[in-house]
Amino acid sequence: MHKGLFMSFPLILAATAGFAQEGGQDADLAEAMALTERFATTLQKELKAAMTEGGPQNAVKVCRERAPAIAAEISEESGWAVGRTSLKLRNAELNAPDDWERAVLVRFDERQVAGEDVATMTVAEVVESDDGSRFRFMKAIPTVQLCLSCHGKIVNASVGTALAEAYPEDQARGYQVGDVRGAFTLSKPR
Ligand code: HEC
Repeated sequence: MHKGLFMSFPLILAATAGFAQEGGQDADLAEAMALTERFATTLQKELKAAMTEGGPQNAVKVCRERAPAIAAEISEESGWAVGRTSLKLRNAELNAPDDWERAVLVRFDERQVAGEDVATMTVAEVVESDDGSRFRFMKAIPTVQLCLSCHGKIVNASVGTALAEAYPEDQARGYQVGDVRGAFTLSKPR
């Protein structure tokens, strides 16, 4: 298993140490990172367990049901909006990026092409919009080996069938290890 995916906390802190130190933003950033870590580890654990138990065709259901459920649970508990997004979507209904998220995702791809480690890419910013000021945070999600059975260039027939049934418009294929698969995205009013 690739070590980069669910990186340890001090690394994220180091990656974002240059972030503005104004009052309250440090606390927001720390909270966003902690929630991201929790989302990532919970999902990873359930995905791995499902893959071991019944292979990727069984795990499709976990990604489909548990990923949104875990995000909703953490959102409700924390008061943050927590989710995942990508430029090439599997679930466009739920995970489509807004303009700010799309720009960050494009930038993450550029940073990856420039040679930066995807596992440590984050962005944090206070963003003004029609519904007021929000603290926003995104953390890139690297593609690792485990992802390829459902997001790679070739998926086996039963996975293909399961995906085609649930996501007829699926765009989230053709990834290679090291690509930016998408990002965790968190925000809250400020
Ligand atoms: C067993 C199949 C499977 C595996 C393995 C898998 N995924 Fe997914 N992935 C899915 C499904 C199904 C969805 C759609 C979830 C939904 O409906 O919200 C999805 C959605 C996503 C999304 C949300 C954006 C989108 O396209 O809608 C991201 C990000 C993502 N996966 C990343 C990963 C990463 C990173 C890995 C490897 C650690 C991985 N996935 C492994 C099946 C899988």
